[in-house]
Amino acid sequence: MTETYAVELQDVVKQFGDVVAVNHVSLQIRDGEFFSLLGPSGCGKTTTLRMIAGFEMPTGGAIYIHGERQGYRPPNKRPINTVFQNYALFPHMTVAENIAFGMEMQRTPKDEVKRRVAEALAMVRLSNMANRKPKQLSGGQQQRIALARALVNRPKVLLLDEPLGALDLKLRKAMQIELKALQEEVGITFIYVTHDQEEALTMSDRIAVMNNGIVHQVDVPDRIYEHPADRFVADFIGETNFIPVKVVSLSPQIIVELASGEKIPAGWAEEGIAVGENAILSIRPEKMTLLEEKEVDGPPPADIARVRGAVRHLVYVGTDTRHTVALQDGTEIVVRLQNSYIDEEPWEIDESTIVEWNAAHARVLKE
Ligand SMILES: Nc1ncnc2c1ncn2[C@@H]1O[C@H](COP(=O)(O)OP(=O)(O)O)[C@@H](O)[C@H]1O
Ligand SMILES: [Mg+2]
Repeated sequence: MTETYAVELQDVVKQFGDVVAVNHVSLQIRDGEFFSLLGPSGCGKTTTLRMIAGFEMPTGGAIYIHGERQGYRPPNKRPINTVFQNYALFPHMTVAENIAFGMEMQRTPKDEVKRRVAEALAMVRLSNMANRKPKQLSGGQQQRIALARALVNRPKVLLLDEPLGALDLKLRKAMQIELKALQEEVGITFIYVTHDQEEALTMSDRIAVMNNGIVHQVDVPDRIYEHPADRFVADFIGETNFIPVKVVSLSPQIIVELASGEKIPAGWAEEGIAVGENAILSIRPEKMTLLEEKEVDGPPPADIARVRGAVRHLVYVGTDTRHTVALQDGTEIVVRLQNSYIDEEPWEIDESTIVEWNAAHARVLKE
């Protein structure tokens, strides 16, 4: 072993009867990293977190925390703490008492408890609220108290299971920024569970995208968005066009053919795809542009894709306009064009157009 990770999962499986909640998951989470588990409801995020915390035992595989294999080590003996979505604060206790509770159970000396409570409250910037009861706090403040309570015994790793899920959108956005700043400040490894792709993209150093108990891709946010590894990731993260194609060649250049017979280059193809097979071409709406017939002169350069279509629908969304374009085979795609120019003529409905993009942005994925 060359590097000791904060948390490492080796081929972890968790079954509940017939349900395989986590299916051969391996992950390596670095010390100090903000790492997110992202996926739809039921994909196995909470189960993964609960196994790291020790609340569930894996059916197979092993979990290491800072190089130590955890086995049957109970949750309170792991250098870890957890913040849940339904952070139950004790309503009859003050904020300070809520935070101190765990330490008092462990008979930590009184002056140390006091000092550490003050420290934790300062971290979440609620020092002036120490003597309030939870119901005298807003939802966001209560969530910060839950966070302070989890940080007070200085875990090496903090697990957060949809901690902002109960907050309204505006507060959630503000808390995302706060949480990220706090994590950078304290330098603790965060493992953050969310089904919200935007939340994961904005907060994380790296993201594991999960579905049906399987990890589809582990990468930094911009690579998850720009280079989705498969159809699930491309579909789950952001908006994507899927165009049915047949693979014409893979080397030296990747070429695919649309049902219309148009042949175009693509930048990347998923492993296991073969020439002659059906596949899908995945491309983001903002990577494409629309040209008029008169703007096109001769065949495009080798790395440019052009296909014909007709504009079917326009939706103005402020910064840009969404153009729905029907290709010749009937496939409808969305092209997002920035509204940058005052004097630009808008496209008309049913006007014919040429959709153009750089092949580097287009990925050939399995159906
Ligand atoms: N204690 C349990 N008993 C039986 N099935 C469970 C249990 N916990 C989770 N599951 C099942 O495991 C799958 C993954 O659940 P979970 O990890 O909670 O997903 P997520 O947190 O991504 O929404 C789901 O199909 C869920 O119904
Ligand atoms: Mg969950």
